Amino acid sequence: QEDIFKNVISHAKEYGYIFPSSEIYDGLSAVYDYGQNGAELKKNIREYWWKAMVQMHENIVGIDAAIFMHPTTWKASGHIDAFSDPLIDNKDSKKRYRADVLIEDYAEKLNQKAQKEIAKAKKRFGDAFNEEEFVTTNARVIGYLSKKEEILKRMAHSLETENLADVKALIEELEIADPDTGSKNWTEVRQFNLMFGTKLGAEAANAMDLYLRPETAQGIFANFSNVQKTGRMKIPFGIAQTGKAFRNEIVARQFIFRMREFEQMEMQFFVRPGEEMKWYEYWKEARLKWHMSLGLGEENYRFHDHDKLAFYANAATDIEFNFPFGFKELEGIHSRTDHDLGSHEKFSGKKLQYFDTELNKNYVPYVIETSIGLDRMFLAVFSNSLKEETLEDGSTRTVLSLPVVLAPTKAAVLPLVKKDGLPDIAHEIIEDLKWDFNVAYDEKDAVGRRYRRQDALGTPFCITVDHQTLEDKTVTIRHRDTMKQDRVAIVDLRKIINDEVSV
Ligand code: GAP
Repeated sequence: QEDIFKNVISHAKEYGYIFPSSEIYDGLSAVYDYGQNGAELKKNIREYWWKAMVQMHENIVGIDAAIFMHPTTWKASGHIDAFSDPLIDNKDSKKRYRADVLIEDYAEKLNQKAQKEIAKAKKRFGDAFNEEEFVTTNARVIGYLSKKEEILKRMAHSLETENLADVKALIEELEIADPDTGSKNWTEVRQFNLMFGTKLGAEAANAMDLYLRPETAQGIFANFSNVQKTGRMKIPFGIAQTGKAFRNEIVARQFIFRMREFEQMEMQFFVRPGEEMKWYEYWKEARLKWHMSLGLGEENYRFHDHDKLAFYANAATDIEFNFPFGFKELEGIHSRTDHDLGSHEKFSGKKLQYFDTELNKNYVPYVIETSIGLDRMFLAVFSNSLKEETLEDGSTRTVLSLPVVLAPTKAAVLPLVKKDGLPDIAHEIIEDLKWDFNVAYDEKDAVGRRYRRQDALGTPFCITVDHQTLEDKTVTIRHRDTMKQDRVAIVDLRKIINDEVSV
């Protein structure tokens, strides 16, 4: 699994998807830049989300609020008082870790041990293997899994009751070592606020303390009345937004899964109090459907319903994805009651209410939130698509089988040779297709090698111009995933590709 993840990271760099930030200065920890292909893939994911949320819903509109917000926002939202992670330092290595992540990693290792036992038994028993029975009767598997559950439960309870001494005790009891040096010499666990602070204004005396927003959601809550009134929005309605968020995360080797500067795609759906559970269920289903529509494999998603809820929430779930390092949170769906708007009312002194003409009364709406990290979605799509395939002739190929709708470049046009007018025809085809989607040109190397390069880049179609093209205005179109080639008329190319892009 570690190897797969390493491959993902190196492939992302080699093919212009993701570079370490400021690499010429040896990079900046947990900060990444999107390259020429990454920027396109990211934009396509963002648009795919926006289309599903805003364009397809008559009652959802999108905004673009500023990253800077009045500092009282973060008092009202609870981020100043309670947006922190439990940190622990290793006294020997002087390295800093998130105590909860150290414990989660330990639990995940137990899980992997259990999975290994299951895989071994599956191999041994073949068709006769009954996984459910094995998991409930095999002592070793039961041991690993129940220990995992016990550890995670104890950690969750300790964090909830802010018993940080117990979190440290758990780390010592499990003999968790510094992942880099193996040292077990730990400091106490303490809470660390994740917001980045900065200052507004040049004069030190008058400067105002600001924060870079740690989530986009508060820009939506603060604009609730503006949007509701100017858009004449009737409940139930939603406000969507995509944009950068910043958290001073303590991270270790998770690539773009957990970053310090990242992008969120959030939607707050405002509903009548009492109807929130209906809409919570609606959005759970709608969001899972959105994920499924990309075809990354149903088995790679699962809901993780929260047992323990924040005091203001009355239901919460995560959509988890099977990343190269196991199932982890990809998106959160939360029923947040009237907590956010109510709190902003209190701190701002402004009414954030809605007059419901059907009920003939005013109220603070309840909120269902859907919140997904764009970078995390990128990692889900990218890691799931990267495959090493063995072909019929025994050779191997690397293919990035991105969903066609998300692929940065939809087609590459390749003249078979660099002469006889074939490059000119290739350029004419590009001139025609580029109005609809990104198209690339490539004439370097033998055509087989060019196909392989486009496979690795994730380009769904290769269009080859050959000598027959001169005679009958047809080309071959090669499909990335099946490697099948069809002979088609140049005039039909746009429709053939568009049909696949819009599936
Ligand atoms: N407004 C709710 C909210 O921000 P969250 O669970 O803290 O909730 C929502 O974040 C989503 O944002 C997560 O499910 C994850 O996909 C993404 N996310 C959070 N922190 C992140 C980070 N440091 N790097 C990348 N993505 C992150």
